[in-house]
Amino acid sequence: MDGTIAVVGLGYVGLPVAVALAERCGNTVGYDISAGRVAALRAGEDETREIGHARLTSCGLAVSDDPAALEGAETIIVTVPTPITEERRPDLTPLQKACETLGPKLRKGALVVFESTVFPGVTEDICGPWLAQASGLRQGRDFALGYSPERINPGDHVHRLETITKIIAADSDVALARMRALYGAIVDAGLHEAPSIRVAEAAKVIENTQRDLNIALMNEIALIFDRMDISTRDVLAEAGTKWNFLPFTPGLVG
Ligand SMILES: NC(=O)c1ccc[n+]([C@@H]2O[C@H](COP(=O)([O-])OP(=O)(O)OC[C@H]3O[C@@H](n4cnc5c(N)ncnc54)[C@H](O)[C@@H]3O)[C@@H](O)[C@H]2O)c1
Repeated sequence: MDGTIAVVGLGYVGLPVAVALAERCGNTVGYDISAGRVAALRAGEDETREIGHARLTSCGLAVSDDPAALEGAETIIVTVPTPITEERRPDLTPLQKACETLGPKLRKGALVVFESTVFPGVTEDICGPWLAQASGLRQGRDFALGYSPERINPGDHVHRLETITKIIAADSDVALARMRALYGAIVDAGLHEAPSIRVAEAAKVIENTQRDLNIALMNEIALIFDRMDISTRDVLAEAGTKWNFLPFTPGLVG
């Protein structure tokens, strides 16, 4: 693959993507605002425990907390957090800051792919204009947008970036072809091309919602069975013998 690839935000999601790209495509830089995180990664230590010392030190990934590292990248993948505010509204501040940092470094012809979990419309209606404003470039003409939701589950070493079907979506066929080449190189399980960025964003939101609602339901059920002095575990083992009973158990949501 020609040109530099940059990954913005090296946490649970960003680091595995950056390492896989460095290994399979080369020429990859990882940028994070946390100097501490960058220093630890340079020393081969990943506190999220997603990437072991040997892989981290041999993958060829360059990491930096200096935005200059983003200069002239051909493809940029944004994997910063998307928390909620105290009022439980989406907090897009990290995304805005990432766009403001990236914008001045953006070159004509760049493809910016967001992987952060967002509500439908954020990539094209909010982040695109932020990038255009910060770069002086035109969205959809001078730079392209893509979205590819991340489906990893921290600590799960079976369902990994390489082994989970990855959704890709872009604002043009040309940009989608670039994403196909990029993600095709690192995802062995195959890609699924969504008809639009909005559809891909919405799909991720309902994946999370379905999981969270089902865990929350099991939590409520466990409270009820507890009062009835019935073992929830026993009940789930019985119910789970039906072909379409979903295997959710009580636990933490989110
Ligand atoms: N962790 C998961 O299980 C998971 C799974 C799927 C999707 N996601 C989504 O992926 C996104 C990232 O989540 P995560 O778990 O990797 O978060 P994280 O907190 O583990 O990592 C985010 C990293 O981004 C860095 N960062 C913050 N603002 C930045 C900026 N402006 N510029 C550069 N770096 C910046 C932080 O220092 C941190 O290292 C979120 O939208 C999350 O919802 C997470």
